[in-house]
Amino acid sequence: MASRKVHVLAFPAPAQGHISPMIHLCKFIAQDPSFTISWVNIDSLHDEFVKHWVAPAGLEALRLHSIPFSWKLPRGVDANVAGNVGDWFTAAARELPGGLEDLIRKLGEEGDPVSCIVSDYICDWTQDVADVFGIPRIILWSGNAAWTSLEYHIPELLEKDHIFPSRGKASPDEANSVIIDYVRGVKPLRLADVPDYLLASEGQEVWKEICIKRSFVVKRARWVLVNSFYDLEAPTFDFMASELGPRFIPAGPLFLLDDSRKNVVLRPENEDCLGWMDEQNPGSVLYISFGSVAVLSVEQFEELAGALEASKKPFLWVIRPELVVSGHSNESYNGFCERTKNQGFIVSWAPQLRVLAHPSMGAFLTHCGWNSVQESVANGIPMLGWPYGGDQTTNSKFIVEDWKIGVRFCKTVGQGLIGRGEIEDGIKKVMDSDEGKKMKERVENLKILARKAMDKELGKSFRGLQAFLEDLKSLKE
Ligand code: UDX
Repeated sequence: MASRKVHVLAFPAPAQGHISPMIHLCKFIAQDPSFTISWVNIDSLHDEFVKHWVAPAGLEALRLHSIPFSWKLPRGVDANVAGNVGDWFTAAARELPGGLEDLIRKLGEEGDPVSCIVSDYICDWTQDVADVFGIPRIILWSGNAAWTSLEYHIPELLEKDHIFPSRGKASPDEANSVIIDYVRGVKPLRLADVPDYLLASEGQEVWKEICIKRSFVVKRARWVLVNSFYDLEAPTFDFMASELGPRFIPAGPLFLLDDSRKNVVLRPENEDCLGWMDEQNPGSVLYISFGSVAVLSVEQFEELAGALEASKKPFLWVIRPELVVSGHSNESYNGFCERTKNQGFIVSWAPQLRVLAHPSMGAFLTHCGWNSVQESVANGIPMLGWPYGGDQTTNSKFIVEDWKIGVRFCKTVGQGLIGRGEIEDGIKKVMDSDEGKKMKERVENLKILARKAMDKELGKSFRGLQAFLEDLKSLKE
């Protein structure tokens, strides 16, 4: 029994933005022979996952499992996501604990008891499952540290009637003028920069209760690993560690742990774009991606296409099959493709980690998903932020106001049309102006700090991850 391995069960929230960092963490854990890892998907995602699964080096022994769930993750939902997301989480909290408990019990009966659960913050019910078996839960936070502090302040935000407001959802003017200046460790921000799922009001009682609950459940986790780095958000890390203890740590950028720069993806990647990038001038390419969930209206898609064409910049654009709600007009799309065939390259999914590291990269027009932001920062690429929802509005605020490494558009995707003129101006500002040069200098400095964080000798994130691993080893019977 003394030689038994520590059995880590990884349960990521079922979406690309959560799977990416969890895989990087699992690769790190698996390097140590003391561990064995079980990976758990919900069954509706499992087939897709297995279809594209090519075990990354070091994870050949990863054991894949699935648990039943009646819901699919909303894909291609409109910008008013809070309702759908709330319903989804409600169903998850009702259905998934039983399936996970059954699986853990089965593994135990097979002689391979689970030693701990690593899961996303938003899967807070995994803490209850861990408690049933008397094993620890570790949170992998796939957003930034500021978001953890915002969630931690949910009780105060509620008390001030700033979130789930009793008087109904704030108007855009109000959301832009109300300043939240009491979230400790975070610089003042506008109400409009708070994650939008907290701003909903009517009919959101169940969702509100879920958010309140998880803001307390975080305290019961053994570790909170945040996929960000200390130098980027030092005051937030200091505050949260003072509240939750030294096991609240910066652990990112996790993708830097793997030199192959490959993501485990749920869709086929088009690597031909890397050959096209080889032919472009250094620092010249504008890369456009809205991550795995965000969608655009047809009108917005056409404004963006018009701006790209007018900018004359070489562009690499990720157009997922479901990116445009109710599809784009084939006639105008084909015309755009024909006119820009010597200017741009379109893919349905890009090898993003290698794209952002390519010497021809100039700027990234992003929906500000945290992985994308951090991958851009750690590669020294300035951004045009165009958030869609969730933590992305908060992230875009940091890009522009705190770190000054990009611009953002005046409305989020779906809030109203952004015209081609504004998009083109944003492109010029980041890629051609003196201010853009300063943004590039700043983000290059952050790139150095990001890499320092993962330095195997001195890096704060790396050392934290090592301490985490040593602690997990003590779970070996
Ligand atoms: C979501 C949220 O937006 C994000 O803020 C949250 O913290 C995690 O979940 P998503 O919207 O998909 O994720 O965006 P993002 O966080 O940027 O993650 C997308 C991942 O897919 C990144 O790791 C990115 O490298 C990868 N990707 C994206 C590709 O590999 N290829 C692509 O073409 C697009």
